Amino acid sequence: MSLRAPVRLLDRSRKWALCAATAVTLIASVLVGGTGTSYAASSLPCDLYAAGGAPCVAAHSTTRALYAAYNGPLYQVRRSSDNSNRDIGLLSTGGYANAAAQDSFCAGTTCVITVIYDQSGRGNHLTQAPGGGAAGGPDNLANAIAAPTTVGGHKAYGVYVAPGTGYRNDHTSGIATGDQPEGMYAIFDGTHFNGGCCFDYGNAETSNNDTGNGHMEAIYFGNSSYWGYGAGTGPWIMADLENGLFSGVNQRYNANDPTINYRFTTAIIKGTANRWAIRGGNAQSGGLSTFYSGARPNVSGYNPMSKEGAIILGIGGDNSKGSAGTFYEGVMTSGYPSDATENAVQANITSVAYTAPALPVALTPGSRISLRATTSCCTTDYLRHDDADTNVVISPISSSSSATDKSDATWIVRAGLANSSCVSFESANATGQYLRHAGFQLHLNANDGTSLFAQDATFCPQTGNSGLGYSFMSGNYDSKYLRHYYYTGYIASDGGSNAWDSTKSWADDTSWQVASPWS
Ligand code: AHR
Repeated sequence: MSLRAPVRLLDRSRKWALCAATAVTLIASVLVGGTGTSYAASSLPCDLYAAGGAPCVAAHSTTRALYAAYNGPLYQVRRSSDNSNRDIGLLSTGGYANAAAQDSFCAGTTCVITVIYDQSGRGNHLTQAPGGGAAGGPDNLANAIAAPTTVGGHKAYGVYVAPGTGYRNDHTSGIATGDQPEGMYAIFDGTHFNGGCCFDYGNAETSNNDTGNGHMEAIYFGNSSYWGYGAGTGPWIMADLENGLFSGVNQRYNANDPTINYRFTTAIIKGTANRWAIRGGNAQSGGLSTFYSGARPNVSGYNPMSKEGAIILGIGGDNSKGSAGTFYEGVMTSGYPSDATENAVQANITSVAYTAPALPVALTPGSRISLRATTSCCTTDYLRHDDADTNVVISPISSSSSATDKSDATWIVRAGLANSSCVSFESANATGQYLRHAGFQLHLNANDGTSLFAQDATFCPQTGNSGLGYSFMSGNYDSKYLRHYYYTGYIASDGGSNAWDSTKSWADDTSWQVASPWS
């Protein structure tokens, strides 16, 4: 509005099972030698796990195939304009995601990721998590464009988990139960995390409730220190074993579990009878390190384990959903993989060269900018803070504006306080005060150093929702973008419960030109 006025999955699974099984048979029969396991250069992670005797029983990725012979869908998106769905597949067998298919399907509207398909052929797909003991549901679905990346030289999208987002499968096939051995890895954005419970990928309860110690075995990534923690300030890779995030054999501090925050971080947890391990590394280069390998925690319920075999992504076992993170790919295996097998998987991961998109030059941290509205009503208006209160509004600024008005409409771009792939905006004339949302309205407030402030003050630039300029996704509400509405600043979704979520002119009102600074 002018603001001057206001599959069917089972059938598909069988088909891809055949592809996966064929690949495993071919590779294993050709390559497994008598003195050790050798791996074909073209083998992808699940081929490597199979050759190492611990086959994938779930394989999830929105970026690439995890079997050399896989040529099925990676994930499904739903667009808001007509609620229709589209499977996103590969550019070629065993290759990379066809991100252009998503871009074309989602052009001019917004999309969420509805299904992350299981490539193992077992039908262990991830869909919208239901409510659980800790929090109601269904959980939110990830904004499909919120985690752009490049892999193998191709554009792809990861799964951006803002607090409230979660995926789950409570009816799986082949996932470890009881004390059965399993392994798992995932690639996360090591710069996108928080201390909420619990950004997990792995084995959880089938009831969505906390059913007791040892009923989970999942990778946790974040800086929660409520249960366990490691060296430094985090984030850490820990094992979520239910009622505890474990950084080693002890329940609390383990010095050998380091802070690990590579932009692309490989995280591994594996467990078998009275033994488990934490491993990790840089998904862009180098090998893996072992941060713990040894006995189960000496606490009732964790030995033997009582794994239930559901799969979760982005949430805790009881659907705790205060956590944040970004997932690119991950698998779960049947059997306890050897370190050598995982090292081969890591070599494949580094070979595909995950790369983060650069921030637009105009939004390089340290730059001074002004943000001009693009809605036809308001093209001489700029986002600025008030002097009489903490509100952030738009108003006309020109060369004849006062020096105060000009500097109120000038921002210093900072690396995102909660996610360095995104940005924060510090006021040019109020040092230490940042653009942030509270109650979904924009304010200028002093950084109080809390995790909540950091999240509220983090915005992720994307191509403008109208096609013009940039739109800025809220770092902790991935369906909401910086918007002006009746001259006041908000974060707003394209339709929703607040007046400022009005669909009328949403794309224009959320699109901003990054302009030269007024001061
Ligand atoms: O183990 C940590 C968390 O505790 C689990 O993820 C959740 O189920 C419980 O709240």
